[in-house]
Amino acid sequence: MREDELFTSLKEHGQEHIIEAYEKLDDAGKKKLAAQLEKIDWDMVAMAGNKEAAQERGKLEPLSALEVSEIEANKAAYEAKGLEAIRQGKVGAVLLAGGQGTRLGSDGPKGKYNIGITKDVYIFERLIRNLLDVTDKAGCFVPLYIMTSDKNNDETVAFFEEKNYFGYPKEYVAFFKQEMAPSVDYDGKLLMEAADSLSLSPNGNGGWFYSMAVNGVVDDVHKRGIEWLNIFAVDNVLQRIADPVFVGATLDSGRVSGAKVVRKAEPNEKVGVLCLEDGKPSIVEYYEMTEEIINSREPNGDLSYNFGVILNYLFRVDKLEEIMNAKMPVHVVEKKIPYIDKEGNFHKPETPNGYKFELLVLDMIHLLENCLSFEVVRNYEFAPIKNKTGVDSVESAQALLQQNGVTL
Ligand code: UTP
Repeated sequence: MREDELFTSLKEHGQEHIIEAYEKLDDAGKKKLAAQLEKIDWDMVAMAGNKEAAQERGKLEPLSALEVSEIEANKAAYEAKGLEAIRQGKVGAVLLAGGQGTRLGSDGPKGKYNIGITKDVYIFERLIRNLLDVTDKAGCFVPLYIMTSDKNNDETVAFFEEKNYFGYPKEYVAFFKQEMAPSVDYDGKLLMEAADSLSLSPNGNGGWFYSMAVNGVVDDVHKRGIEWLNIFAVDNVLQRIADPVFVGATLDSGRVSGAKVVRKAEPNEKVGVLCLEDGKPSIVEYYEMTEEIINSREPNGDLSYNFGVILNYLFRVDKLEEIMNAKMPVHVVEKKIPYIDKEGNFHKPETPNGYKFELLVLDMIHLLENCLSFEVVRNYEFAPIKNKTGVDSVESAQALLQQNGVTL
């Protein structure tokens, strides 16, 4: 883009302060900042002004799950089917590790966090061990794609190198970077983190497949003949990855996606619930549901909206390609955003000072025609690490790992 076009666009969007900053830079700085500005999605930035305009929900209906008792009854058959698909090379895994883990409060990739008690046990290591349980059984490896961001990619790759990929073959692991999005203050003005750089942060976990495509990783998926991708979060250390029972059950169901879910502990538990919205699968947050919906029950007494998602999904690759360019809702989130002021002083705020924009993987589900809701036992498969202490913390995850026989 020519400089005059860039300035016109910045003026149109009320971002004159960026022109001032730009004019103070040398050629290299100008080039860097211009490259960032050219990538901005102005429609998204404009959303900062309508944060309150909550997403309107369609007609909600319950979606029944394949429950644990039924899974147990057919486990051998599901597992055999899943293992066969894995052996045929049809299953790949995607680790979403581009987040910043701000609640945990440790700089650097969350997967580097050491959760060991008597020895070193890193989150990444735990995940690889979980994957190795499956690949040992299958007798072959599952390609693992790891999503990072500009903020943590180099450190993540270096860590895997240093630890020799925790025993996983390097040729089955590929890293790719997700897209970045700008941040704005409460007036919608773009924040800067350095004289020649906007304050950019990872754009949420919902753009993972788009990022795989623009980085050429989808070509590798095709080359290897992968038909299904299992995506999962970095922070659930009890995560079962490429779980053959889940794969087999999803294949058996004939559906195009699957979601691992856990039974709600109580009606008001703060989890996103998998249900139907206007006849299509959807994940609805607890605060979007009415009291009536929250408390509604089935004839057998179970809650109608009974299953919360744990960020472990299976997607059919051809369907992902179909929806790859579909518009997804942008979530505007209030955050503490480090920035430099007009005088060039750097600030690291203690309280939120603006908005970031994120796409969420849960919105992908609604773009698909169907989804298998697959129940898992919380205490065996769900130990998320979001905080240092308390709920969903290092402490609670350590206790759950120990209950599951893992030495820490
Ligand atoms: P969270 O929603 O817990 O976000 O991510 P976070 O950034 O890790 O943590 P906080 O909110 O700052 O404390 C759920 C999963 O999605 C990934 C995370 O790495 C985690 O596996 N994620 C999140 C991305 O890959 N990219 C993102 O932009 C955001």
